[in-house]
Amino acid sequence: MMENLQWITVSGPEEGAKEVYSIIEEELRNNRLQVLGLATGSTMIPVYEEWTDSNLDFSQVTAFNLDEYVGIDADNPNSYAYFMKEHLFNKKQFKETHIPNGMADDLDKECQRYEEELNAHPLDIQLLGVGENGHIAFNEPGTSPESVTHVATLTDSTLGVNSQYFENDDKIPNIALTMGISSIMKSKKLIMVAFGEKKRAAMEKLKSGEVTTDWPITKLLRHNDVVVITDLKVD
Ligand code: GLP
Repeated sequence: MMENLQWITVSGPEEGAKEVYSIIEEELRNNRLQVLGLATGSTMIPVYEEWTDSNLDFSQVTAFNLDEYVGIDADNPNSYAYFMKEHLFNKKQFKETHIPNGMADDLDKECQRYEEELNAHPLDIQLLGVGENGHIAFNEPGTSPESVTHVATLTDSTLGVNSQYFENDDKIPNIALTMGISSIMKSKKLIMVAFGEKKRAAMEKLKSGEVTTDWPITKLLRHNDVVVITDLKVD
């Protein structure tokens, strides 16, 4: 299975961001990128900076984000919608952008709507980060590999790690809307980006070659086109 993973080891986030850039640039140039799945988190900040400092043209690209907190609106700096505007959408024009609506009255219905949108616009590339516990998007350990967009309960590990980014004394919600593991796996290509020692356990699990729901990231081993970009040297 490991042969499906192209493993690129870089010196750090800056070089990693350049590697992501060159894949995106090539796919755009060859007209292979119409629908792009995006991620949030500190890992993505240098990645998006590389794009916004460039001439990349996303005006024909439809974007889908992986996830959003429940109960935090798009004007709140803690929302992923706000993060995306700040780091990318205010600086680059996209054809359309989609983010699950964590303010929807009926969350299950919103998840169903989002999954239908995804099915109508199959992902060419999905960009992914990873949580310290191996979560992808907000698919926490134990999540079904068959999952589609759903309401997820966040683990204490994720709440602890992510709350450090919360501003204005807002309390971090313990529920979120997230693409499911199967929604992510449908993307033609996956780009996994992980920087720093805190991601070592997740990278080691991925490298081990064993697929287990305890480490959602390992499901990537079942995909046929994954690029892993990391500054961790993992044996
Ligand atoms: C959140 C997001 C994930 C992301 C993770 C890592 O939990 N839901 O999609 O991969 O954070 O964040 P960071 O890049 O800050 O380590």
